[in-house]
Amino acid sequence: LRIVVLISGSGTNLQAMIDQIHRGDTPARIVAVISNKAEAYGLKRAEQAGIPAEVLSHRGYASREDYDRALQQLIDGYQPDLLVLAGFMRILTDAFTRHYQGRMINIHPSLLPRHKGLNTHQRVLEAGDPEHGCSVHYVTAELDGGPVILQASVPVEASDTPESLAQKVHEQEHRIYPRVIDWIARGRVRLEDDTVLFDNQPL
Ligand code: GRF
Repeated sequence: LRIVVLISGSGTNLQAMIDQIHRGDTPARIVAVISNKAEAYGLKRAEQAGIPAEVLSHRGYASREDYDRALQQLIDGYQPDLLVLAGFMRILTDAFTRHYQGRMINIHPSLLPRHKGLNTHQRVLEAGDPEHGCSVHYVTAELDGGPVILQASVPVEASDTPESLAQKVHEQEHRIYPRVIDWIARGRVRLEDDTVLFDNQPL
């Protein structure tokens, strides 16, 4: 399975994927890492792992459509089977999400459908939720709205802060994202008509 990973930041999820693939049991290869930010630390992680790392800054593009078209061209040059969003902090156009429908996944730091969008840890505390977590999902045109593949939950304690929750959730992200990639690489998971199929059974 040829994978392209999109990032904007530190890339700890990218690192978890690199580590899992280097352990050798996932039939996948990360063929490129692309960031919209030149200073993203994840680019260094890619270079250290011998993976081509590219920057395509969104600055200088007149519209979101223009940028997404350029991004699509760059990505498709690597002929990926799967596009993985790992902290890529941009809203994608409909045309872009349609192009990769069923071939693009994202990880979101909440138990979707709760808390789509930003600042999820803060919002979980404000809402008094007893639990929090993360979700890996197929990407559709609706922001953080695509079909969920796998979630992990963590309990919310009275002593928790946005920072402590972020840390607990991140640990779970590093467990579940590589696992989903392994499933997809083995052909165990796919999307068909907006339904996630696991070993050919609806989830
Ligand atoms: C994660 O919290 C993920 O849920 C969100 O962006 C963050 C990326 O973190 N989509 P990292 O760059 O992988 O460390």
